[in-house]
Amino acid sequence: MSTFLSFPEDFVWGVATSSYQIEGAWNEDGKGESIWDRYSHTPGKVIDGSTGDVACDHYHRWPEDIALMKSLGLEAYRFSLSWPRILPEGRGRINQAGLDFYSRLVDGLLAAGITPFITLYHWDLPQALQDEGGWPERRTAEAFVEYADAASRHLGDRVKNWITHNEPWCASVLSYALGEHAPGMRDMAAAVRASHHLLLSHGWAVPVIRANSPDSEVGITLNFEATEPASSSPADTRRTRLEDGTYNRWFVSALFGRHYPADIVAHYEPLFPNGMDFIQPADFEAIAAPTDFLGVNYYTRRIVRDETAEDNAPQTLFPDLPKCDMHSGVWEPVYWEIYPQGLYNLLNRLYFEYGPKKIYITENGTSFLTGPDENGRIRDTNRLNYLRDHFAAAHRAMQNGVPLAGYFVWSLMDNFEWAKGYQQRFGIVWVDYDTQQRTPKESALWYSQVIADNGLVPAM
Ligand code: FCB
Repeated sequence: MSTFLSFPEDFVWGVATSSYQIEGAWNEDGKGESIWDRYSHTPGKVIDGSTGDVACDHYHRWPEDIALMKSLGLEAYRFSLSWPRILPEGRGRINQAGLDFYSRLVDGLLAAGITPFITLYHWDLPQALQDEGGWPERRTAEAFVEYADAASRHLGDRVKNWITHNEPWCASVLSYALGEHAPGMRDMAAAVRASHHLLLSHGWAVPVIRANSPDSEVGITLNFEATEPASSSPADTRRTRLEDGTYNRWFVSALFGRHYPADIVAHYEPLFPNGMDFIQPADFEAIAAPTDFLGVNYYTRRIVRDETAEDNAPQTLFPDLPKCDMHSGVWEPVYWEIYPQGLYNLLNRLYFEYGPKKIYITENGTSFLTGPDENGRIRDTNRLNYLRDHFAAAHRAMQNGVPLAGYFVWSLMDNFEWAKGYQQRFGIVWVDYDTQQRTPKESALWYSQVIADNGLVPAM
């Protein structure tokens, strides 16, 4: 018999989405163009040629979506604001209609008893700012503070949980160096600059949000991957340390007052023959502004092999794991492994190495394409198992003292999965894109019961 895993009484159970992935209405009511509008409208960028022009049409269907969340018993909803809906040119002129939309959404959530968690930046940079250089330029960080000020001034009386950025690694490296996300650049130096300005804009925005939204809690969301070497060879070990450094340590280290890790600075330095002069001495103090929580997004692990090395050992340290339907790489897919133990390890590592006051899992979930059966039921047992095993891993970490305060499943509903378009389905709710009908999958009904019981029975 498995024992029941109970969570603390005030544990927050929620779901997450982001503006560009669900809203649609890409050019309505005065919204400006974002880099994702531009990117998805450019042929050859998104795998199925699709766009977020309509997406889940949440911009028009939000009352229905709130009712759906309420019916599932969800306690909190993490969503992002579209910056160009609020500041169409990125700075300066405010589009009141944009603010009004989010104001109605917040009121609707509160009336339904659902706590809003706002993410300010989930990748839809105003195109006007990209035209001036985007995140590699310091003035984009200045514009972000203006946006954070406008948003928190108008919503901060009712919204008490703020996340400045979602996954700065994706917003910098994936977008400016690997070319997989908007704006699709391939310039590592630009990506490093972007990463710095993203972190800096976070640090500058924290006190502004606090001033506008008294008693609020402010944090940032990072994405982490469990990086593990393919073999015990020195080359694979070195390479793993490097990947962990550029992906994980670079961001968390600066945020927790330890500047950038010396090994990664040394790795990046050759990109900047004139020095890393975009980093100013006072920046580190700003970046390390005390926060109330760390948001953690976790999906999978990455097995690292140094393909160029001669001393590669043949043995495999970590056997292959089951995979979901999601993959890294757009055109050469590497499927994501399912690795709940990685979440346990990560939570321990973050807490014992960096000591955040509080942690929220701001995203965790999986893509399986499982669709309706002949009775219209969506039996996504694979997703249910994924969530169950990750919840159990999180619970185990909490037994070690990790201050995990809540869990947001990615995602409320199937949506536009960036460069993978509509070819992935991360939702616990099925979306029929022809009719926009939403149907809770088995995993949603199961999750609803977990919330009602405030706990779950783990796998045997
Ligand atoms: C994360 C993103 C989120 C979604 C999931 C699958 O990296 O934050 O928008 O795409 O991956």
